[in-house]
Amino acid sequence: MKGVILAGGLGTRLHPLTRVTNKHLLPIYTKPMIYYPIECLVKAGIEDILVVTGGNSAGDFLRLLGNGEEFGLKHINYTYQKGEGGIAEALGLARHFADGEPIVVVLGDNLLEHNIADAVQRFREQGGGAKILLKQVHDPQRFGVAELEGEKVVRIVEKPKEPKSDLAVIGIYMYDGTVFEMIDDLEPSERGELEITDVNNKYIARQAMTWDRVEGWWTDAGTFDSLLRASNLVADGGANK
Ligand code: G1P
Repeated sequence: MKGVILAGGLGTRLHPLTRVTNKHLLPIYTKPMIYYPIECLVKAGIEDILVVTGGNSAGDFLRLLGNGEEFGLKHINYTYQKGEGGIAEALGLARHFADGEPIVVVLGDNLLEHNIADAVQRFREQGGGAKILLKQVHDPQRFGVAELEGEKVVRIVEKPKEPKSDLAVIGIYMYDGTVFEMIDDLEPSERGELEITDVNNKYIARQAMTWDRVEGWWTDAGTFDSLLRASNLVADGGANK
């Protein structure tokens, strides 16, 4: 199992904080944001990691993280996304790195109270397909939202105006090696991006998607309110426990 952290984008929702630097280098309590997704993967036993960056200050990731010694890693891989083509386009840059193996993808601005080792283990045992993680939220309109029939996810809708549930699809996705063929088949959405939600819906259509419920807190950190919330949650008790 390999890990991919998506840490590109222009972070425009955080201007002027992100006018000269990358969102994922901003502080969350005592550490730069990018530390948390790296710790998340390492705690799940994943040591072969690619950081996909882009936008401003891409070179600063190398200066900050080096070869990952601080995380007990021997090496970190890096690649660069030009422009703003969306999460699925950024993931497409991981094709050669993944080399047919299953991957755990983490959006670089997602933080969790608990580690994901058990979910990753269940995905390993599943032997193919994909797994998403769902969390009950008060503001589902901000996220990809899962529609369930019984215990089965039948559809994911990206930022619905009238959500069919309060279950957000969090920014951690587990995929088998076929994910890159699905990315090849995507069409840009209305906002001109290749959407990760479209990839997930393709797995659902193939009956190859499972999901787990997230225990403990989860937050993203891409808006002023969620950035503050992330710092407060980490200060109150730490992340990736
Ligand atoms: C992205 C995904 C969305 C997901 C969210 C989790 O949204 O498109 O489906 O729920 O991450 O953080 P974005 O943060 O790009 O608006």
